[in-house]
Amino acid sequence: MSKWLDNAIFYEIYPQSFCDTNADGIGDFNGIIKKLGYIKELGCNAIWLNPCFKSPFGDAGYDVSDYYTAAPRYGTNEDLKRLFCEAHKLGIHVLLDLVPGHTSSEHEWFKESMKATPNAYTDRYVWTDSIWEEPQGMGCIRGISERDGSCAVNFFSHQPALNYGFYKPDRPWQQSMEDDGPKATLEELKNIMRFWLKMGCDGFRVDMAGSLVKNDDNGKGTIKLWQNIREFLDREFPDAAMVSEWGEPDKSLQGGFHMDFLLHFGPSHYNDLFRCEEPFFSGRGEGDISEFVKKYMENYEKSEQKGLICIPSGNHDMDRLARSIHGDELKIAFAFLLSMPGAPFIYYGDEIGMRYIENHVSVEGGYNRTGSRSPMQWDSSVNAGFSAAPKDMLYIRQDEAPDRPTAEAQINDRDSLLNEIKKLITIRQSVPSLQSNGKITFLYAEKNAYPFAYLRSNEAEKILVILNPSHNEASFSCQYIPKEAIYTFGKAVSYENGIITMPGGSAGFYRI
Ligand code: NOJ
Repeated sequence: MSKWLDNAIFYEIYPQSFCDTNADGIGDFNGIIKKLGYIKELGCNAIWLNPCFKSPFGDAGYDVSDYYTAAPRYGTNEDLKRLFCEAHKLGIHVLLDLVPGHTSSEHEWFKESMKATPNAYTDRYVWTDSIWEEPQGMGCIRGISERDGSCAVNFFSHQPALNYGFYKPDRPWQQSMEDDGPKATLEELKNIMRFWLKMGCDGFRVDMAGSLVKNDDNGKGTIKLWQNIREFLDREFPDAAMVSEWGEPDKSLQGGFHMDFLLHFGPSHYNDLFRCEEPFFSGRGEGDISEFVKKYMENYEKSEQKGLICIPSGNHDMDRLARSIHGDELKIAFAFLLSMPGAPFIYYGDEIGMRYIENHVSVEGGYNRTGSRSPMQWDSSVNAGFSAAPKDMLYIRQDEAPDRPTAEAQINDRDSLLNEIKKLITIRQSVPSLQSNGKITFLYAEKNAYPFAYLRSNEAEKILVILNPSHNEASFSCQYIPKEAIYTFGKAVSYENGIITMPGGSAGFYRI
């Protein structure tokens, strides 16, 4: 596994909303380069960059129309290469976002594929052999091609599904993974990866990684496909790091991914933490962490340390963390995120508690996700330092609240969320057992109860983590005695006769 993942802390950048240096109202590569120092200062040493390739932006760039060319609105391939170089100079690795499951319907491959005359792209997508037959269980594009057939779509109806074959073909038009069309698609995917890895990127976050092979209910075909890619990477780019948007680590890690996310969809109970009616990390203290922990342990045991299970603060598809939890709750949530195994992922702006913008009209296919994609708030200058363009030229509306948080104000405020996160990152980076591969043992994670406690350990040390987001004091019986505090937030812990009591709204990491 790529060694640098051992202590990686990722920062997710949604490029259109990060920093605009040419005053066109949209973020760009130069803006990211300009802010690398900020990312480094925060303590992050890796970036996940959302799709930055040519696209009509009907799904924020997840509708690629040319995999080999950077989106002109962000800059050129040369600019992106410079971004890799400048990031590397600061010890920051960069993962690009690979969208292997579908393209934009404007991709040249799809235009060729729509032609009646067979050509090199005829089998690049999943087509039925008659306009009157729809691919079962999938949406489709029909009636716009000269070709007689319906083309399966993967997500929005302008995102035709690339053809990697069916695990068990059961219709004449369904190809197997071994057929020429699917094999050619897979080889092209390798070419794309090769192209960007040679250019200097450090790996990929892979979009919808678990759904490439169709009719593949338990993921066996898709796992096999990724194992094939793993072999290619091991041969040609052994240091490339891969993280999947799959949400089922027991499957993705078998496929050779180094990391998988726990997400707002799938069986992980991730939403119980921050995004449900009574989140665990709320001061109301009405949440429940037990189901999350149960699932986490199942995944942890099944994945047998084959790779990392990553818990993001949020991402461009979820409500902002600050929509449901606030103030000290956010700080305690980050004490959790930054003391769990796996590589933490911080969604840009979450480090300053950027808000979800309510009632935003959909921009670039965001719909309800648009509220989590507003431009970064850097400082108190025009457009919060995001862009020098006139306000009405910004491609998306910003948080306009007079008290909107900014990075600058939080850097200068000792008690800010940003400074708490910096402190937590510094501690994580100086205590190896808190990093990606340190073991975890849950000590107290009871149904509808607080606090939440676990042990992080390696051969050399044991760290006891206790989190009590609830406003009320909470106790549990514990065989370990908290000795040296290496991190505390809120009032101090007390220990008496095997019982640990955590005051309300507090967090602590202790050597035992
Ligand atoms: C998951 C991405 O995170 C999301 O933003 C996108 O819309 C879909 N996949 C489709 O690519």
